[in-house]
Amino acid sequence: MEDRRIQERPPDAPPVDRKVAVALSGITKRFGDFVAVDDLNLDIYEGEFFSLLGPSGCGKTTTLRMIAGFEEPGEGEISVAGQPVQGVPPYRRPVNTVFQSYAIFPHLNVFDNVAFGLRRAGVKGEELRQRVTRACKMVQLQGFEKRKPRMLSGGQQQRVALARALVNRPKVLLLDEPLGALDLKLRKEMQLELKNLQHEVGITFIYVTHDQEEALTMSDRIAVMNEGVVQQVADPATLYERPRNRFVANFIGQTNLFSGTVESVNGEKVTLVVPDGAKVEAVAQDGAEPEPGSEVHVAVRPEKVRFGAAGDNVCTAEVRQIVYLGVSTQYITWLPDGRKLALYQQNIQDAGGYDVGDEVTVSWDARNCLVLGG
Ligand SMILES: Nc1ncnc2c1ncn2[C@@H]1O[C@H](COP(=O)(O)OP(=O)(O)O)[C@@H](O)[C@H]1O
Ligand SMILES: [Mg+2]
Repeated sequence: MEDRRIQERPPDAPPVDRKVAVALSGITKRFGDFVAVDDLNLDIYEGEFFSLLGPSGCGKTTTLRMIAGFEEPGEGEISVAGQPVQGVPPYRRPVNTVFQSYAIFPHLNVFDNVAFGLRRAGVKGEELRQRVTRACKMVQLQGFEKRKPRMLSGGQQQRVALARALVNRPKVLLLDEPLGALDLKLRKEMQLELKNLQHEVGITFIYVTHDQEEALTMSDRIAVMNEGVVQQVADPATLYERPRNRFVANFIGQTNLFSGTVESVNGEKVTLVVPDGAKVEAVAQDGAEPEPGSEVHVAVRPEKVRFGAAGDNVCTAEVRQIVYLGVSTQYITWLPDGRKLALYQQNIQDAGGYDVGDEVTVSWDARNCLVLGG
């Protein structure tokens, strides 16, 4: 089922019939000789929860700052709601930003914090009251309007920052690691809250994070970046099930990566020879063009490998390490040629146990064994 759904929709296919909220075309940004963002092309759709995901320093914040207008690209064009924004100052763009270090004013209460921008824009009286009340309600802070920030938890303070960014009804909300300062439990709660909020208000969210789990939890689509270059743009399931290259396969979730030499290619089916001489059946990922004789990289997820000989690829291995993870147990096994192969076993009742040192048979299907592109 899963696979069919993925195959019906090419990984980079845009959502059907949706308007582009933010278009980035050919965006390059240099700081001196250093290329922070390299030929970025992205269409982000209205109402989408879109994430920029990648390791620290890969250019996520720089990209967001260019959309916001705090930085101008050296090359390329940015449009918001169909209008080119080159030269338009930040405060005149229909976007708003929530930063990790959300600067809420400690001496102002919640109401006045949220009202701050509106007041500066000349909104007052009943309209001001209504708009601030509505924004507070959106983020579930009704009843807290009179409180000072120090009387709020970290999560509530973050909601003040959100309300302040939502109050002037931006078309696009830019969020730069907004949950980074919160502890894990609160961060998880806020992830779901933010996702629900985005769904309710229908505003396009562009969310920056280095946390792959956070991006998978919240996003409709994700652009995975590395060293200023977008590696893959897709929905979470496609990124996980069909990573295009080694970087994405490694960055999203856990994976077994190995190399092999292509023996034969038949459509998307590829037969490889691995270092110990064994044959491995795999499928070519989009963008991979394996040629007989060439060396390729292959990825197989640990939960797609199982104990027993019930797959296209079967081999014996030795259990070297066992890590109990609650829901599942991770087994690190060694193949005869010294390669490591990790597998997960769900801890369902009476799941067979293995011990370190056991010789086991492991197997996995060709369709879960991906020949990656560059
Ligand atoms: N104003 C600047 N001057 C020089 N280098 C910068 C500047 N802003 C960002 N960079 C560099 O550009 C790269 C990307 O930065 P950034 O977009 O902040 O990354 P991320 O948000 O993904 O961690 C980093 O190597 C950073 O040091
Ligand atoms: Mg950053």
